[in-house]
Amino acid sequence: MTAHLSIFGETSIVIDEELGSDAKAREALLDRAMGAGRKRKSSEKLRRGRLPSAGLAFVARSGFGTLIGSVRLWDVSCGDKPMLLLGPLAVETSVAGRGIGAALMRHAMMRAAELGHGAIILVGDAPYYARFGFSAAKTAGVMMPGPVERERLLGCELRDGYLDGAKGLLIGRGTRAARRQSCNDAQGAAVSNRLGRVA
Ligand SMILES: CC(C)(COP(=O)(O)OP(=O)(O)OC[C@H]1O[C@@H](n2cnc3c(N)ncnc32)[C@H](O)[C@@H]1OP(=O)(O)O)[C@@H](O)C(=O)NCCC(=O)NCCS
Repeated sequence: MTAHLSIFGETSIVIDEELGSDAKAREALLDRAMGAGRKRKSSEKLRRGRLPSAGLAFVARSGFGTLIGSVRLWDVSCGDKPMLLLGPLAVETSVAGRGIGAALMRHAMMRAAELGHGAIILVGDAPYYARFGFSAAKTAGVMMPGPVERERLLGCELRDGYLDGAKGLLIGRGTRAARRQSCNDAQGAAVSNRLGRVA
């Protein structure tokens, strides 16, 4: 599913499902936006070696087809509750502040709700994510597999009450990426294959 954005009169920015061929540009964008330490984050332990949740990896493209934004969601569980982990979200600095991050977030959240998911967890800045409905109100019992600043561990319910009583260690439960490929190549290829099947 593709969403066309009209940002400051420019209609050519597109939010689209990620393709296998996006892997290299996506990783380069994430390196620029998040820095070299991004792979040492606790969230990364829930993602490493796994594929994003089916149908929930998105890119923003400019009118020239250049990848300028990325967001991905991952299957995790907390206790016996399945939920999604969102991240990273990143937008190219040269087009920051034009609503592309918000468009990626809203598109990803809408698709996650349509696919029947109950809640999304993320680690990020509450002043940014509050506008999408994220807060730390129901994440007190949620534990990350590594250090985290509690005020940055945020949740948003896609189904009312889904995070009530959420308690336990977050565990990655996404499909494992193929071992013989590099993680990124494998993620991209599998996303592409999935898209091919549903197209
Ligand atoms: C955070 C990020 C995705 C926002 O993308 P964007 O396309 O610039 O966002 P939007 O245009 O939708 O929103 C811009 C607004 O968010 C605010 N904002 C951006 N980052 C913020 C933050 N960390 N905390 C609070 N507000 C923030 C901007 O000041 C701006 O506010 P305004 O609307 O009042 O002017 C982008 O800045 C980015 O890639 N940052 C580096 C990576 C990162 O930190 N990702 C989030 C953690 S996973």
